[in-house]
Parts: sequence; structure tokens; C-alpha cells
Amino acid sequence: MKVAVAGTGYVGLSIALLLAQHHEVHALDIVPEKVRLLNEGKSPIVDKEITSFLDDNTNGKRPLNFHATVDPAEAYSNADFVIIATPTDYDEQKNYFDTSSVESSIRAIRSYSPDSWIVIKSTIPVGYSASLRNQLNDNHILFSPEFLREGHALYDNLHPSRVVVGAPQDDLASVDAAHLFANMLVEGAADKESQRINHDGSRGIPTLIVGTTEAEAIKLFSNTYLALRVAYFNELNTYAESRGLNAKQIISGVSLDPRIGDGYNNPSFGYGGYCLPKDTKQLLANYQDVPQNLIEAIVAANSTRKEFIAQEVIKRINGSPSPTVGIYRLTMKTGSDNYRQSAIQDVIRNLKAEGIAVIIYEPTSDEQAFLGSKLIADLAEFKQMSDIIVANRWSSDLDDVRQKIYTRDLFKRD
Ligand SMILES: NC(=O)c1ccc[n+]([C@@H]2O[C@H](COP(=O)([O-])OP(=O)(O)OC[C@H]3O[C@@H](n4cnc5c(N)ncnc54)[C@H](O)[C@@H]3O)[C@@H](O)[C@H]2O)c1
Repeated sequence: MKVAVAGTGYVGLSIALLLAQHHEVHALDIVPEKVRLLNEGKSPIVDKEITSFLDDNTNGKRPLNFHATVDPAEAYSNADFVIIATPTDYDEQKNYFDTSSVESSIRAIRSYSPDSWIVIKSTIPVGYSASLRNQLNDNHILFSPEFLREGHALYDNLHPSRVVVGAPQDDLASVDAAHLFANMLVEGAADKESQRINHDGSRGIPTLIVGTTEAEAIKLFSNTYLALRVAYFNELNTYAESRGLNAKQIISGVSLDPRIGDGYNNPSFGYGGYCLPKDTKQLLANYQDVPQNLIEAIVAANSTRKEFIAQEVIKRINGSPSPTVGIYRLTMKTGSDNYRQSAIQDVIRNLKAEGIAVIIYEPTSDEQAFLGSKLIADLAEFKQMSDIIVANRWSSDLDDVRQKIYTRDLFKRD
């Protein structure tokens, strides 16, 4: 198969490399620097598996049929499948997702390749693919939700929790194309045993072929559940901290119930990252005219948590003359270089709104300042300058300044 992938970010690049094990893949991006790096066998993002796939391709250990390009004609012409993995952002003004990069990709794809199957991997509003198919009178548009985590993008595609592809259920050709695409994703997965797809989906990698609108809802409801869980354990932690209780003991006891489980329960400053903030807001927007209380509470809980964290930091420095708060890392997670929409950013804004001086240590950034606060490149100098060090996630780098740390990372994981 000839496969084109629009967008070489976390989603596009991991799928492109997965599929390039068995298919001819052309990855298109509008940023020439990313394309140049990829064609030199270097990853533009921090991801262990992506880096090792590219290295193995360069040294011949794992030959991949992969080429990056900025030329839409090269990528899209005669492609059997075109995967769209371009950014979609929540637009606060319009109260809706900005899907313009998906629409401009579809226009470009159709000018070179009128019949290829388009699979949208970008996150989109519920009902978007169906309205696009109607509007463009184009039946070859499918949607497949992506469940990867940043920092583990290719790993999660090699070991997928499930493969979901949405196709209009009354169109046999679309359903067949959805099965074919699902098989291609499973074929590229690492676990050979799991490559078997059973018709009832009971063994191997669970594979669901559903309606496109249901597939879109699966993505937004999954992420909103994850946000709910983060917000729940964070509010538990807010309660414990306010009442002087040991949150770790409470969470351990709560999580021993197998219906609750002992994962994804480590408190933080708030849910963040590229997806959860925008996907929860999008789902809330999709609830227009549908009764709900919980979805808007999840969104509101996250802001309340970040305000609480800022107030807790302020309490701890009260009394010090002109204190400096040091922010250890802007990233959400250990092992990631990405800090889009990270929770710490709102904590910084809240601190600065109270007139508190803030400095930042973020070794993946070359910038001099962020949100108007100075970035300190030298860790020892940063530690020395900070009266309190605020860390969303613990690191052994902080062992020697333990007494200065404010974190809610109780279990030192996630
Ligand atoms: N990052 C995640 O964890 C994750 C997980 C699941 C779903 N998603 C969704 O997948 C989509 C992409 O996310 P991402 O994290 O990979 O984004 P990203 O910002 O890392 O990458 C997007 C890439 O698309 C390129 N691009 C923009 N417009 C383009 C165009 N017209 N043609 C070709 N390339 C173009 C950009 O230069 C960039 O390299 C979003 O809708 C996101 O919500 C992301």
C-alpha cells in the first residue's frame, strides 16, 4: 500500500513509522526542518522508540519504507490511504475545535488523489466526519481515534490498548476499508501473538469497527474520563491537605478496591498536556442542549486545583521578605520534552498575579524567559536562587534540596 501521513508530530510520526515496516510511507509536514531531520534519520521529538526505529533504519537493522517530504504531490498522488494527523485546537472564542488544518489537508489531498481513503487521526468534535462527508459529498472519509501518550507515542502504537476505526455503517466499501486499515495497524504492532484478529474481537488486540460519530465520541469520552480521574484524586488530595490528613494513606486504601484500581491516581497540580484540557472542553461544547453536571465540573475542578496549589505555595513562603519561587520543569511528565498546556503554567500565572517572583528550570528549552519569568539554565544556581522549589513531578535531581520542595507527587510515578 502507498500510505501518506499529513503531520509528523507525536501522532503522525508514530503511525508513519509503524506502517513503514510493511508499507510505502510518505510523511508530509509543512515545517522543512522536521522533514530534513527525519530524512537524516533523526527524530524531531523526544521518544525512545521513535529514535530507535530511525536509528535501526539508518544502520540497516530494521529497514523501513519511510520518506519525509514537504511536497503534497509526492505524498498524496496515488496514495491508497492518507492519514491526517495535523493539530486541532480548542478555540475559546468560538467554543469549538479549530479543525482548519484538517480541512486544508483534505482540500490538498483531493487535488492530488480524488479516491484515496482518508483516515482522520486528529481529534475532532463528535459528528465532524459525518458532516464533512455530507458537505463534500465524499464517502471516503474515516476516523480512527488515537490513544497514545506523549513520550511513549510509538510504544503505544506498538502495544495498542485497542484499535478503533469509524466508518459509516451503511456503506460496505467504507466498512471494508476500515477493516483493512485496522489490520494494517495491528500488522505493525510489536506483539506477534496479538496480530490475530478474531471476528468477535475476543482475542488479540481488541479491534472495533464502529460508526464515525461513535468513534469520535469514544475519543472524547475516554479523555474526559481520564481527566475526571485526575481531577478526583487531586480533589481528594486538596481535601487531605486542607484537613491535615495523609493523602497517600487515603489513596492507597481507596485504590485497593479492584473496581477503583491502583493506577492513574497520583496527585498532581492539575491535568494538562495537549489533549485533556482541549478534549474535555470540546466534549462540554458537544453537550449543548443535553443535560449534564459532571462534564462542566471536571473542567472547573482543574482551575480550582491550580488556584489551590498556588495558594499552598504562597502559604509556605509567607513571612519571607521578597521570596523567589523556583519552578522545576515546565513539562507535565517525567521523560517528556513537551509542555503544551502543562498545569504548572496556570500555577505560574496565579503566583505572578499575586506579585510573587518566579524563576524556572527547564533544561529542554533554549529560551531566556517563559511567561515573563527568567529561565535559569544551571540547576545548581536555580536551587540556590529559589526559596521554595515547586515540582509537579519529583526527580532525584532534587534529593539534595528536599527541604525546599513543594510537590504533590506522592507516589513518584506517572
Ligand atoms: N499528542 C497526543 O498525545 C495526542 C494523542 C491523541 C490524539 N492527538 C491528536 O492528534 C492531532 C495531532 O497531535 P500531535 O500531538 O501529533 O500534534 P503535533 O503538533 O505534535 O504535530 C502536528 C504536525 O502537523 C504539522 N502540520 C500542521 N499543519 C499541517 C498541514 N496542513 N499539512 C501537513 N502537516 C501539517 C505540524 O507542523 C506538526 O509537525 C491533534 O488533533 C491531537 O489532538 C494527540
